[in-house]
Amino acid sequence: MLSIVKSMALNGLNGYLISIQVDISNGMPYFEIVGLPDTSVRESKERVKTAIKNSNIEFLSRRIVVNLAPANTKKEGSSLDLPIAIGILIANGVIRNKHLESFLKDTIFIGELSLDGTIESVSGILPVCIEAKKLGIKRIILSEKNAKEASIISGLDILSTSKLSEVIEYLNGKIPLKKEKKSNFFIDNEIKYEFDFSDVKGQENIKRALEIAAAGGHNCLLIGSPGSGKTMLARRLPSILPDIEFEESLEITKIHSVAGLLSEQMPMILKRPFRSPHHTITPASLIGGGKMPKPGEISLAHYGVLFLDELPEFKKNTLELLRGPLEDRKVTISRLNMAITYPCNFMFIASMNPCPCGYYNCKEKECSCSQEQIKKYINKISGPLLDRIDIQIEVQSVEYQKLQNSRKEETSEIIRKRVNHARKIQIQRYEKYHIFSNSELTPQLIEKYCNIDSKCKNILEIAFERLGLSARAYSRILKVARTIADLDNSSNIETSHLAEAIQYRSLDRKYWGS
Ligand SMILES: Nc1ncnc2c1ncn2[C@@H]1O[C@H](COP(=O)(O)OP(=O)(O)OP(=O)(O)O)[C@@H](O)[C@H]1O
Ligand SMILES: [Mg+2]
Ligand SMILES: [Zn+2]
Repeated sequence: MLSIVKSMALNGLNGYLISIQVDISNGMPYFEIVGLPDTSVRESKERVKTAIKNSNIEFLSRRIVVNLAPANTKKEGSSLDLPIAIGILIANGVIRNKHLESFLKDTIFIGELSLDGTIESVSGILPVCIEAKKLGIKRIILSEKNAKEASIISGLDILSTSKLSEVIEYLNGKIPLKKEKKSNFFIDNEIKYEFDFSDVKGQENIKRALEIAAAGGHNCLLIGSPGSGKTMLARRLPSILPDIEFEESLEITKIHSVAGLLSEQMPMILKRPFRSPHHTITPASLIGGGKMPKPGEISLAHYGVLFLDELPEFKKNTLELLRGPLEDRKVTISRLNMAITYPCNFMFIASMNPCPCGYYNCKEKECSCSQEQIKKYINKISGPLLDRIDIQIEVQSVEYQKLQNSRKEETSEIIRKRVNHARKIQIQRYEKYHIFSNSELTPQLIEKYCNIDSKCKNILEIAFERLGLSARAYSRILKVARTIADLDNSSNIETSHLAEAIQYRSLDRKYWGS
């Protein structure tokens, strides 16, 4: 007898329908899965067989052929175990129900089986549910560990259990399955941040620069001696980023779902991500990769922050890989017969010491490095990468008195209010271009929205001469000036806005100038 059961697989961030056809006939004992399965689907055979046996059902020694359609896609993972098992049990008559045929048309099964018949969770449930809903599927049957994640999407019945045997009894009309309520994670949860800017004494100018970076989504480099507070400051950035929209939260959650990084109880990401990989990270973990390419750190940082602490410690080749994604805000990973694109629209924040000993330009301590050493160190950061950074700031240690000062510092909440206001202006202004921030302005849009008068042009000209700025710094300065004007609620870029933006390029000559 032939049975057809529906499931889903993933292609990047999108789910697609898979039809599992099982044919059982008399003949020599035989069990094969066809339709381009990779090794993990082949291993699925053993798990399915044993899980069925351990659910106290005889695994009939007959000729079983399982076909996974469409055949021309490469399926991966163990998520097809459950539907394969159900297909077999329908084909051999263990599951019998006169309403079965119409029921199966509207139902998706997904889940890994362990040998004892437990249904385990799988990654990528959110994109699967999004696609299922689009296709008009009515219900999804999965592991109870995946139920909360599935319930982010409304309009699907989420039926869950931890045992294969219970799915069988359910399909035979003997017991009900637990139905998950629609979740409201996005509305119900209050967002708390781990660190707050009020912990940072002094450093008003750095806080101001980070506020501008957050408001306009600008990439930012912090240079300063050891202990000056670079890491401390960067870690507080998430607390002043613009509030997240539901659509953004959903997209971030999809990426983390596919990467298998969601928590079972709270499977929706409600804060902009802050990813801070170690400098030993491999290119594949940073950019994305693997046999079935998984999202890398740059995609996990989508709509949030990628923080590379101690930038020169990273391998030069690894850093160079960031150039494309920083520009395109998406990354394509190619493999034999397929290419997967993941979004990676992140804010890039990096920190570094100014020299190998760390004390070049430091007020308190003498630098012991030669010019040669400093140059070599600084040049680990290539020009093209530097060109993608809008704001550079030199961090000096705060004086002892300031650290002792009991003056109340501004909280992140207050800063975030200003950031939110400035970001709203940008979202409205760029609505028809589908961009959210000044940092995303193209040359054409810069021309349109970053107009400056002759006074400003003069200032810019002088600055270029004095600071020896590169032509590429020009558009960066205008974008940052636009953000400063937005924070100031000013429709025009004024001289004060421009002058401040220029300051954030002043390290070009100091460190990278010839
Ligand atoms: N402005 C400040 N207000 C309060 N504490 C500070 C401030 N600056 C530094 N500190 C203290 O000094 C510690 C060291 O700072 P942090 O680790 O951020 O320095 P860093 O610049 O990253 O140094 P390194 O180059 O060694 O990584 C902080 O954890 C904090 O306790
Ligand atoms: Mg540090
Ligand atoms: Zn030094």
